[in-house]
Amino acid sequence: MAVLWQARTLFFLSFVFNALAAITRYIPAGQETLFHIQPTTTDSSSPSSYTGSTSDNSQTLIPPVPPTDPPVNTLFAVQLVNGNIPGLSIPQQGAFLGFSIELSVSNHILGHNGTTLSVPFLNLLANLQERGGRVTVRIGGNSQETAVLVPSIPDGSALEKDKSTVYNPTHTPPLIFTPEILYMMANISSLVNVDWFLGIPFIDAPNWRLDVVQKGQEILGNRLLGFQAGNEPDLYLPHGHRPQGYGPASYTGEVQSLVDTMRSQGLKTQGQIIAPNVNRDWTPEDVFNTGFLDDFVQELGIISVEKYPNDNCAAVFNTGGTVHNPQDVLPMYLTHDTGVNLAQEYLNTAMIAQQLGKPFMMFETNTASCGGFPGVSDAFAAALWGLDYGMTLAYSNFTGALFHFGGQSVYYNPFTPPPTNQSAFHQWTVGPMYYANLAMAEVLGKSNQSQVIDLNANGGNPSTPGYAIYENGNPMKVALFNYLDDNSGAHDLSVAISPGGNTPASVRVKYLLADHVTARGNFTWAGQTLGAEFQSDGRLQGELNVVTVPCDATTNTCTVTVPAPGFALVFLNDQAYTDSTPSGPTTTFATTAFTKSVNTATIDPQVLETSNGHSGKDRTGFSSTSKGSSPNGATTLMDGLGGVLLGCLGAGLGAVLFALF
Ligand SMILES: *[C@@H]1O[C@H](CO)[C@@H](O)[C@H](O)[C@H]1NC(C)=O
Ligand SMILES: *[C@@H]1O[C@H](CO)[C@@H](O)[C@H](O)[C@H]1NC(C)=O
Ligand SMILES: *[C@@H]1O[C@H](CO)[C@@H](O)[C@H](O)[C@H]1NC(C)=O
Ligand SMILES: *[C@@H]1O[C@H](CO)[C@@H](O)[C@H](O)[C@H]1NC(C)=O
Ligand SMILES: *[C@@H]1O[C@H](CO)[C@@H](O)[C@H](O)[C@H]1NC(C)=O
Ligand SMILES: *[C@@H]1O[C@H](CO)[C@@H](O)[C@H](O)[C@H]1NC(C)=O
Repeated sequence: MAVLWQARTLFFLSFVFNALAAITRYIPAGQETLFHIQPTTTDSSSPSSYTGSTSDNSQTLIPPVPPTDPPVNTLFAVQLVNGNIPGLSIPQQGAFLGFSIELSVSNHILGHNGTTLSVPFLNLLANLQERGGRVTVRIGGNSQETAVLVPSIPDGSALEKDKSTVYNPTHTPPLIFTPEILYMMANISSLVNVDWFLGIPFIDAPNWRLDVVQKGQEILGNRLLGFQAGNEPDLYLPHGHRPQGYGPASYTGEVQSLVDTMRSQGLKTQGQIIAPNVNRDWTPEDVFNTGFLDDFVQELGIISVEKYPNDNCAAVFNTGGTVHNPQDVLPMYLTHDTGVNLAQEYLNTAMIAQQLGKPFMMFETNTASCGGFPGVSDAFAAALWGLDYGMTLAYSNFTGALFHFGGQSVYYNPFTPPPTNQSAFHQWTVGPMYYANLAMAEVLGKSNQSQVIDLNANGGNPSTPGYAIYENGNPMKVALFNYLDDNSGAHDLSVAISPGGNTPASVRVKYLLADHVTARGNFTWAGQTLGAEFQSDGRLQGELNVVTVPCDATTNTCTVTVPAPGFALVFLNDQAYTDSTPSGPTTTFATTAFTKSVNTATIDPQVLETSNGHSGKDRTGFSSTSKGSSPNGATTLMDGLGGVLLGCLGAGLGAVLFALF
């Protein structure tokens, strides 16, 4: 048995690492240890080659022509009423949409060490905090399963493949990381309001490696919201990770062993476990039916699942499965039905979680597993779809959902740093999924009271979904989508909203726009953008554009236009608007360290001399010359935050942050 088990483990490892080795061949030198695609969720057995890279793939697809027989109705009404109407979701937080970052790429996103953080990442998080109050980020994924926390790595890096422990003939070693990753997380949380999730490696169960729990709890304190007990345990058996017979009861037994061991080591267990993290082969109820919820009523902090609506594994890993043509899958990201069908599977689980008073999260998701589809996951369709999907999950009583990051050469990343050898002249690329997070933070705002309802708008036409957001029985916002693509204006929607109660003189509208559903850049939210490929320092650029729409006092309606394609968020009153909108100039971190040529910010040398990670309260010495940055873009956060920031500016000055990786 032991021998068999070991053989299976080796088989699994060789499967994983063959996959990684196959992929990393196409990734720029120096990147191998850090950026790679994980064969994440759907079946990805026998991967052998990787075929794509976002940076050298500029595939733009053809937008579908709007249907003509029958045409989509473009004039419709939305009637809202005051009061606690049936069907509202539970109250949701502005941090509903967060991020899921593979542990293996986390240092490229977070920074180099606790004093050298990625400034664009801080800015991207700050944008969300200002709108939704808070951000949640998971560091984990498949790479958490084999990760080993070590005290230090000889070359001083925070994360690496373990070159001393080669597991298989491909000589691809597992991941090691140091507490510096945890310090980076903690230090980020001292600058922006971020809470974190981690994962406990399950590969060697029941030989638990709990250093990540001990150090995580110690370093992150209450910024750490819990640990995943395994990642997609329902796929352990098909992936050769567990022996025949492994089922939901076996998993429950492993979690019991984990909890017992945590307790015996004096580690906090109350509310710390995130489970069952199932993906495809088991439902959450399959696990619950083994007595899971009774057994771990104290320890279970969050009920969680992981799901993507589709996968691109056959193309990326040559699985022998059906290769999906991006042009053919595009329509599935231009309909409300995709998100609705996915959420439907979990309505029962959501109700169970609600009855137990536990959060229920979609812990890892995106457009399609195995990196997404070129021309789809990196196009405007994904921004509209991701936002619509997020709102459907909120309406379906999930309490949060995390958009996943793979690595350098995937299509679905909400944002991506430049390849290491390009960091001297390139900045970050912000993708459509980030815009979905940004708009969602405003949809829900900071009140913690937002209740979402799917309006079944326009007779339930899946090309034109709409939602209302209520707070304490009052309609506050209306969210309207137009998935149709027609620049002539003939398919722009004209939506007559009756706001319920007293009709205001006017309402304010923010739009999420791009030229086409297939556009791979030039996305704007309320007129502002995060720039083109390799051009973002994480700050919004351009003038804020909020449209005021007058209301008609005789018909009690406010008629809002939604371009084809586009999304409109309608603020029905001042409170709704101020609760979601950043007050005053954007408070972000000035970029300095990244690029020598594109973005050269100036720093008063005297400020640097006195900063050194300790003082730095005097921020007046900064002035940004960031290309295309907004006039107020260079302001920084509150007093006291300058310390780590300045330490990071100082460390990066002259050198280039990511060139050091
Ligand atoms: C970066 O490295 C890759 C892979 O070695 C190489 O193909 C590419 O030309 C390099 N780019 C620059 C700008 O040096
Ligand atoms: C953190 O990283 C910076 C940039 O690589 C480096 O200069 C600094 O020495 C590092 N700090 C520590 C404590 O390792
Ligand atoms: C940031 O992390 C480092 C570890 O690299 C730690 O020494 C330092 O105290 C941290 N700074 C803050 C402000 O937490
Ligand atoms: C969400 O929960 C609320 C409150 O329990 C309930 O009324 C509503 O029907 C649920 N929504 C769905 C889609 O199940
Ligand atoms: C919303 O909830 C968060 C965390 O649960 C809390 O920190 C914040 O203060 C709450 N906001 C309001 C306005 O109550
Ligand atoms: C963005 O807009 C500019 C100006 O209209 C255009 O030159 C550029 O090609 C667009 N980029 C993308 C990725 O659509």
